[in-house]
Amino acid sequence: MSSYNFASQKVLITGGLGFIGSNIAQKFVKLGAQVTIYDMLDPKSGGNIHNISGIEGSVQVLKQDIRNFESVCTAISGQDIIFHCAAYTSHPNSMKDPLMDIEVNCKGTINVLEAARRFNPDVKFIHIGTSTQIGKMHYQPIDELHPEFPVDIYSANKSVSEKYVSIYGHAYRMKTAVVRFANVFGPRSNIRSPDFGFMNYFIGLALQDKDLTVFGEGKQQRNVSYIDDCVDALVAVSQSERSWGQVFFAASDEQCTVAEIAEAITREIGGRVRYVDWPSDRQVIEIGDSVVTNQKIKSFVDWKPQWDLARGLKEAGLYFRPNLKRYLG
Ligand SMILES: NC(=O)c1ccc[n+]([C@@H]2O[C@H](COP(=O)([O-])OP(=O)(O)OC[C@H]3O[C@@H](n4cnc5c(N)ncnc54)[C@H](O)[C@@H]3O)[C@@H](O)[C@H]2O)c1
Repeated sequence: MSSYNFASQKVLITGGLGFIGSNIAQKFVKLGAQVTIYDMLDPKSGGNIHNISGIEGSVQVLKQDIRNFESVCTAISGQDIIFHCAAYTSHPNSMKDPLMDIEVNCKGTINVLEAARRFNPDVKFIHIGTSTQIGKMHYQPIDELHPEFPVDIYSANKSVSEKYVSIYGHAYRMKTAVVRFANVFGPRSNIRSPDFGFMNYFIGLALQDKDLTVFGEGKQQRNVSYIDDCVDALVAVSQSERSWGQVFFAASDEQCTVAEIAEAITREIGGRVRYVDWPSDRQVIEIGDSVVTNQKIKSFVDWKPQWDLARGLKEAGLYFRPNLKRYLG
């Protein structure tokens, strides 16, 4: 990956206390940017104040809500790049509280876009999408042209919100890009709750030497993406003029079954795998195999994944072990 100079750049990260946003913040502080985090630390999200440990003195933190249009407008002025990571991020919670999901994921995204259009139309706007927008796979591997039939409210609203981003890019000639991720794991994730994806939760169980319960036989194929690869993809997208107006899948080269992922976690970190019957509320939002290609992003920007599953898991273990109280307490 090329070396970039962000010394005079102002970067705004909505959801910057969450898993992905805080890793972006850590990276951009290292790259010399002036980083502002915009995050109300929603207790139902994966946000954690300890995620900015080590950089607290170098970032400005605005404890504000993206549903508040006025405060979004104030935060957006003068920024060079926005990474829009704030979201209502739990699939099960979105089924329990669909209106809240619309408020944050749809209206919240419109607020950030509209604030940018009115007060900072030249900003580079990078939105995070998710592979779960696709729903059940109709052909393999899934690319950016694959139709979207999401099976839960979160994924449906993520699909809608990324369309807003593309519309603003097209209609107002704003510099927008969407980067979709799949099963991101690693340091600063929520390892406490099963509501934010199984993989980081399994890492948390393994760190406590508990059972990792796999539903059914765990034969569904998944891409697994180490967080540093995802952050590097976002850096690369933000620096290429070819990114604007595009949607990318920034997924790993590697695919594994859920059972293989669980077994790898027990090998690298701890715990043991136990296979149980599917709970009915999980089975209805299960999509089966999901295999994504990263060919498009590789051909547009200077990026390719560097981390494999075993190395990423080792690194996650090293990060979390001395910090367990902060993430499980
Ligand atoms: N983690 C993954 O595997 C994954 C995969 C694909 C896409 N994504 C997307 O990446 C983005 C970040 O996800 P994450 O895993 O870091 O989630 P996260 O839950 O760890 O972080 C989300 C952050 O948004 C903040 N937030 C929530 N509502 C807010 C509001 N109304 N105003 C201001 N801040 C608010 C939360 O406090 C939290 O810190 C999301 O858009 C998500 O859809 C994540």
